[in-house]
Amino acid sequence: MSPFYVTTPIYYVNDLPHIGHIYTTVMADVIARYHRLAGDRVRFLTGTDEHGQKIERAAAQGGVEPIALADRVVSRYHELWQELGISHDDFIRTTEERHAQGVRAIIERIHDAGDFYVDRHEGWYCTGCETFYTEKELEGDDKLCPDHGTPTEWKSEENVFFRLSKYTEPLLAWYRDNPAAVRPETRLNEVRSFVESGLRDLSVSRANLAWGIPFPDQPGQTVYVWLDALTNYISALGFGAADDALYRTFWEGEGTRIHLVGKDILRFHAVYWPAFLMSAGLPLPSTVWAHGWWLRDEKKMSKSVGNIVRPDHLVERFGADSLRYFLVREMNFGQDASFSDQAFVERYNSDLANDLGNTVSRLVTLSRKNFDGAVPQAPAEESPLAEAARTAVADYRKAMEDFSFHRAIEALWKLLSQANGYLVENEPWKLVKDPGHREAAGAVLWSGLEAVRVVATGLLPVMPDTALAVLRAIAAGDEAPGSLDALAWGGLAPGAELPAPEALFPRIDKEAFLEEVAASAGPAATGAGTEEKDDKETDGSMIDIEKFFETELRTATVTAAEAVPKSNKLLKLTVDLGEEAPRTVVAGIAKQYQPEEIVGRQVVIVANLEPAKLMGVESQGMVLAADVGGAPVLLHPDTEVPNGTRVR
Ligand code: MSP
Repeated sequence: MSPFYVTTPIYYVNDLPHIGHIYTTVMADVIARYHRLAGDRVRFLTGTDEHGQKIERAAAQGGVEPIALADRVVSRYHELWQELGISHDDFIRTTEERHAQGVRAIIERIHDAGDFYVDRHEGWYCTGCETFYTEKELEGDDKLCPDHGTPTEWKSEENVFFRLSKYTEPLLAWYRDNPAAVRPETRLNEVRSFVESGLRDLSVSRANLAWGIPFPDQPGQTVYVWLDALTNYISALGFGAADDALYRTFWEGEGTRIHLVGKDILRFHAVYWPAFLMSAGLPLPSTVWAHGWWLRDEKKMSKSVGNIVRPDHLVERFGADSLRYFLVREMNFGQDASFSDQAFVERYNSDLANDLGNTVSRLVTLSRKNFDGAVPQAPAEESPLAEAARTAVADYRKAMEDFSFHRAIEALWKLLSQANGYLVENEPWKLVKDPGHREAAGAVLWSGLEAVRVVATGLLPVMPDTALAVLRAIAAGDEAPGSLDALAWGGLAPGAELPAPEALFPRIDKEAFLEEVAASAGPAATGAGTEEKDDKETDGSMIDIEKFFETELRTATVTAAEAVPKSNKLLKLTVDLGEEAPRTVVAGIAKQYQPEEIVGRQVVIVANLEPAKLMGVESQGMVLAADVGGAPVLLHPDTEVPNGTRVR
């Protein structure tokens, strides 16, 4: 069993996870699951990056201690990873003592190599990146960070420096001798030209920063957050600890060590990290794999831009596996991709509900009905689908090993489409009607079911629960196979009892879903008309009172309420605003409020909104509610006031 170590970046705890963070982790999980099936000895690490100024400031803004902020976000990460079926073997937090121990150990080695010195450090600092920039790297007169687009600040302090410049040649040699050191190739070229342009020494400590690991033997200095964070990859294996067996197996031994990262943090992983390791005399990773970004409205999805998509509504509506499928299928690993709710629902309906779900239910229904509720006999001669399956499996395996995940799925879907074509051509539904052709019908159905079994087996790393549900639906066993050997043609046992089919992927009404998203999350989630709002959120600027009064808030009494058909979130309210005619207002509160319970209540309405159609019902305003973790709690006046009273 060959050791195979795969890591995600460790996530900052100043934000809850969004689709971008989930992406790296899901991809690492797909890789880990695939390699376990391939028989490797896999270790999969993820975790959180909890030190540094960014976190210190976010905690101060929230009025909490940094560790309290970290604990809260970490518990959300744990929950989410469980919900998404992430099969990590370890979760490292940089605030753990085992990590600090590893950091001290690497610093000692770098120190012994003579690669540290103390000097004054001046430059433009971006807290978002936790990094210094030169004048020429910054944008415009405002000295904006090239990555975040936010202002940098001038810093001048005594720091410990690492002799990065000394590693220019060794790094170039590493790239030259190991073409897989940085992937994809475009990223290798990018990193190489950065190094060729000359490396400056790097400051690896910060003064006046309490929230971090104290720099050994340098009073008043804290370890630079990237030297701290990058070391997680070995501290989690026990580097620097008394028991470092995992470290010796997964980092020092023969085997594969892969860091998955987003392209924004490539330089840290493909330049600084290998240089630290070289200095410390430790082995280097086999590959730093940089993927692209999820974009929304052409911009990188990020909290500072204000265009993030949280996973909750997608998981709730489609299930975790469908989200995993979408992320794997929709992005060409390495390139950027755009996220939209529309693309999501379309992919779900066409690939999962239609291609996979319908094929399974058609095959199972026909087989159950005509072959005593069981898998029919396999053909005496090899099925024409066998060769197609062998090709699909070879393409799938090659693509998975190459991290070309969307191609791996394409290979499986090609087989699915060949299986469907084969059914249409041979019409088993007609053959079964003629006793003379019953055996032939059975052979066709068995072949179709067997093709589905191969597809579902290939899907195990991507959609672990759903793939198993498909295998159970076609009576291919109760447990998920533990090896890629199960991809070989011929594994489905004739005679196995087929359970009554259940809808694996109920179709989702696209229009209704999109309207639901628009109603529950507001314009920010739909991408429509967000420019102004986003700008405000990013720079945190205030609005003047005039601007606030542009929004007309008024009191109103709910006179009637009913559920909006086909929606589990929306209620249609009739409200009396003290005007001549009552108004209709659609509110996303159906999960929290029964229609009868709010009739007669006074509420607060935004009265001057453009009417909008939600699930076919025109809404002439919006009801105000406190957003408690996504669950609305209605606001109402303290004592009853005339309807139409302005709220200021
Ligand atoms: N803490 C550092 C990593 C230290 S690793 C030793 C960090 N954290 S992060 O939370 O900001 O980002 C973590 C990962 O999420 C990065 O790989 C980043 O590329 C990824 N993503 C964040 N937004 C993203 C998208 N919009 N799209 C895809 N991935 C992106 O950086």
